[in-house]
Amino acid sequence: MKHQYILGISAGFHDAAVSVVRGDGEIMFAGHSERYSKKKNDADLCLALLQECCDYQIDTMAYYERPWVKQLQRLVSGQGIDWRNITVKQVLTNQLGTWLQHPPRQIQTYSHHLCHAASGFQTSPFDRATCVVIDAIGEFDTVSIWAAEYDQQGQAVYKKLWSQWYPRSIGLFYSAITQRLGLHPMDEEYITMGMSAYGQPRYVEECRALLEDNLHAGIDPDWLWLADNEDIAASAQVLTEELIYSVMRRAQEFNWSTNLVYQGGVALNCLANRNLGEYFENIWIMPCPGDSGNSLGAAALAHGKRLRWRNAFLGHEISGEYPVGAVVDHLLSNQIAGVASGRAEFGPRALGNRSHLADPRGIHIKDQVNEIKRRQKFRPFAPVILAEHVDAFFHMPRGWHHSPYMQSVGTCLRPDLYPGICHVDGSSRVQTVGPDGSGIRRLLEEWYHVTGCPLLLNTSLNIRGQPMVNDRADADRFQAAYNVPVFS
Ligand SMILES: [Fe+2]
Repeated sequence: MKHQYILGISAGFHDAAVSVVRGDGEIMFAGHSERYSKKKNDADLCLALLQECCDYQIDTMAYYERPWVKQLQRLVSGQGIDWRNITVKQVLTNQLGTWLQHPPRQIQTYSHHLCHAASGFQTSPFDRATCVVIDAIGEFDTVSIWAAEYDQQGQAVYKKLWSQWYPRSIGLFYSAITQRLGLHPMDEEYITMGMSAYGQPRYVEECRALLEDNLHAGIDPDWLWLADNEDIAASAQVLTEELIYSVMRRAQEFNWSTNLVYQGGVALNCLANRNLGEYFENIWIMPCPGDSGNSLGAAALAHGKRLRWRNAFLGHEISGEYPVGAVVDHLLSNQIAGVASGRAEFGPRALGNRSHLADPRGIHIKDQVNEIKRRQKFRPFAPVILAEHVDAFFHMPRGWHHSPYMQSVGTCLRPDLYPGICHVDGSSRVQTVGPDGSGIRRLLEEWYHVTGCPLLLNTSLNIRGQPMVNDRADADRFQAAYNVPVFS
């Protein structure tokens, strides 16, 4: 049977990505431009990424925004119109360049927040769900709540129940705080989140006052200039959680479903995510909830029906058997090893195929890994654990007993034994791995068999300041830079 394929595209703002969906709903590929161009958060598509899609007969292209609405938003926000990107044809010509030899049969565009909702709902296990989208800024919506279900033909149907408009924006607020702390907005929000555990929320009301302003251009650098960064981060986190939960309460009150689909960049705040189970019984966050995930959302909307979601390993493939034995042997003798095997993760978290792993036992491992990664000492590392052992090591919040994509924090029950995977507030960003036949599952099984310890420390395999390792050549560069072997 000859299949038609849909190419979903998110590009032109930050963290460009493409996804390919086959006519029967199979997700063939999803990848980030930055992993190919090596430019962190690369806003534009690059040829090497597009070449991954060359084998597919692209019938439809689906773009994650309506370009003219985006330009209207730029006009309103004072950024001015970009006349080169008014129509989708212009955008695609600029983004695809010579790669676009044969124009597809059709080109579709969808609203930014609808793409977020679809990237979640159509990959989720639910037949019906309340979708909540919270991000910084796409077109005009900054928060939206949707009723989603499938009709009798299996077509996904979305009804917008409520939305909040720019310039009020939870994501813009958190990004502006991130910038105020001297970090990169739209990238290093996770550092702000990690830092928050070290401070006291003394400035929640000062932060609240900021919400009245348009934070698109950032915060005055002199704002709270005597305050400790950690206290600002803690205050921003407290206020952000309050705002997120008020959205969740509102979403819950529509009484549409007890299933929550949550997308948008703010859904990466795993600290805030720990309490989502207070509002909904079942939670699904697609592992790439930010704008790059909208390439899959746009493709999902063009497809119309449920996608066949299997796992987040959708990117570039490094072929060969997952190197279980070699990694375990090296961990036993050297405590630290890299692995780059199988298909790369779609989304910002390394989930075992592009991972920097370490033996989590003992008090020195965190400093050892930090020394290699040369990052701030206060930042925690995440544990990856065999799912059936999670209760013995962590208290997981309601709704997060299974956490295969590292999207919530749990409380470590033995921080004395595993300080390397615990944050200063006792939390750990836990990844549970069920019997899914994945390489990381087989590795953990073998590690447990040999050591009796069912968990490993897991952090992303990347050279400091660079995107995650994508192919074998990147892995070789990592190996040379840090003298840590990367097994394929
Ligand atoms: Fe977005």
